[in-house]
Amino acid sequence: MIIAIDGPTASGKGTVAAGVARHFGLKRLDTGALYRAVGLAVLDAAGDPADERAAVAAAEALDLAAIDERRIRSSAVGLAASKVASISAVRSALLKAQRSFAADPAGAVLDGRDIATIICPDADVKLFVTASLDARTQRRLAELRNRGEAIEFEQLKAQIAERDERDINRAEAPLRQAQGAFLLDTSNLSVEQSVAAAIAIIEQARGG
Ligand code: C5P
Repeated sequence: MIIAIDGPTASGKGTVAAGVARHFGLKRLDTGALYRAVGLAVLDAAGDPADERAAVAAAEALDLAAIDERRIRSSAVGLAASKVASISAVRSALLKAQRSFAADPAGAVLDGRDIATIICPDADVKLFVTASLDARTQRRLAELRNRGEAIEFEQLKAQIAERDERDINRAEAPLRQAQGAFLLDTSNLSVEQSVAAAIAIIEQARGG
């Protein structure tokens, strides 16, 4: 069983993907982490994430096993990720690793922006997880403050809106709800409620 989960930043898609993977005993790939790791590598080399040559070189050299889970979660790396992700050659360089993860006969859960549209268009169940801009900003704010990152609500909201804008309007693999994808709005749901709602949708889609 392949489950494809897409949605904007801080929509709860990562939490939903992790919960769904646990529930169904499937492995999970957070594809945003790949773009974040590429963004971080470019920043670490004092490069510009919008520079195609630097970003493609970082994508080609990416070692999935060596991703620094903590450092990739900063807001600066998130912004860099959305820049490298709009470069077509970067997306091509990361395509194979994602497809081979999804090809595991045991099944998999993948979450990102283009999973149901491009990476796994034949996924068994497709979910589009979203939430209001305010709800997403509030969640990301709590996450970043937990990390000790000082940022104000309005500044963060503007950053998230900028990333949404870039993800939705880019020419290559824009963020959108795939045909046949179920919509899950988590604005007023807790983590547990979001995961339970996703599981219910998947079970219904599989059973019906
Ligand atoms: O999901 P997350 O916020 O970690 O993703 C970081 C950035 O990576 C996003 O803003 C998006 O531009 C990019 N991304 C993408 N395609 C994916 C996953 C993430 O373009 N499948």
